[in-house]
Amino acid sequence: MELMDTKADMDGAMVELLGGIETIRALDSAQTEGARIEARSEQLRKKEMRHHRAMAFYDCLKFVNEAFFSVLVIGLSVLLASQGAITVGTVLTAYLCFTQLTGPLRELHRILDEFSECVVLANDYFQLSDLPLDFSCQDEGIPGQAPQDNSVTLKDVRFAYPEKPDQLILSDIVLAIPPGKFIGIAGPSGCGKSSLIKVIDKLEEAQGEVLLGGIPLSGLTRAALSQNVALVPQTPFLTADTVYRNICYGMKREVSLEEVREAARKANIAADIEQLEGGYQFLLAEGGTNLSGGQRQRIALARVFLKKPRILILDEATSALDNTSEKRIQAEIEKMKEECGTTVISIAHRLSTLQNCDEIIVMDKGRIVQRGTYRELEGVPGLFRDMALGIRK
Ligand SMILES: Nc1ncnc2c1ncn2[C@@H]1O[C@H](COP(=O)(O)OP(=O)(O)OP(=O)(O)O)[C@@H](O)[C@H]1O
Ligand SMILES: [Mg+2]
Repeated sequence: MELMDTKADMDGAMVELLGGIETIRALDSAQTEGARIEARSEQLRKKEMRHHRAMAFYDCLKFVNEAFFSVLVIGLSVLLASQGAITVGTVLTAYLCFTQLTGPLRELHRILDEFSECVVLANDYFQLSDLPLDFSCQDEGIPGQAPQDNSVTLKDVRFAYPEKPDQLILSDIVLAIPPGKFIGIAGPSGCGKSSLIKVIDKLEEAQGEVLLGGIPLSGLTRAALSQNVALVPQTPFLTADTVYRNICYGMKREVSLEEVREAARKANIAADIEQLEGGYQFLLAEGGTNLSGGQRQRIALARVFLKKPRILILDEATSALDNTSEKRIQAEIEKMKEECGTTVISIAHRLSTLQNCDEIIVMDKGRIVQRGTYRELEGVPGLFRDMALGIRK
């Protein structure tokens, strides 16, 4: 088990390093990282050696076991023959019978080897199955139950990450977002904005009440949430697959190329895709690293236009885009909001992104400290104005 864990740690370290290869090159920290990997390799080597020594010892025991019985059979039968109790022919027969027996004995050894290996793997499996189930995937509530409208309501929501239960990340959040409204969330880095939207999309479990369209989160299955809510995270998730399949990602129905093209056009990425070799069949590298940061964000946004969710949550989803792209996409989101009655919750550091919001919620240290339209908040002293003036970030 220890050996398996060390190997998994080593794999994890390699993946982490490959993910940060550009930073490592830029900071010329290859030697430091090399030394770190070397120390881990040495640990792994020691454990491998211990394991192989134990295995060699065990193999040796098996061999001695077989040899011991060979010698015993031959010795005993020769002794009996010398005493005239059995004939020389019987000695030969006894030895031949014994060699016939060693075949199944070896087989027994092999079965024991496999059994011990299986015990280790079974232990690993049981450790995994003992991990708590993801609460958001447990099918509570009535399957098929969906939000009755596009409203979002939070009543006295308090939240702390399970690993730090004493540190409240969200305190007493009370919020009622009517259907079809465009709500902005602003606040300093680390104040709990992303945590709040994770609570709204049932990705983290909070105290208090969260209702989507009048239905408590506990009554909505993961399937119902995925059908009605779209969350575009701070870092877009792209897979090593075609552009077409990346845009369709998460869709539970067949999607035509025409629909994907239309979604890409709305996300202002269609022209970029046409330029790629193979267009929509262009293969993305793992994590979409053969595209620019802004292109990755626009592919993630194209999914939204394909899905037309009832509740759309954007977490810095346009942060890597130029102003023109951002404005075009915002106009398309506004259009979708008018056509489908989508409720939009948008987090943005670039406050100009929130100018057209129906209301902006300003957060600080896990609490809502100000609310109002952009114009209202800009005109009163407070955190929002400080952030707009660049006094606070
Ligand atoms: N998975 C996690 N486990 C434990 N603590 C976390 C986790 N994610 C975030 N935090 C902590 O929760 C607090 C709020 O984080 P959150 O990501 O919600 O901030 P944010 O307002 O979205 O910040 P930013 O604007 O920089 O994205 C931070 O202090 C952070 O350290
Ligand atoms: Mg965040």
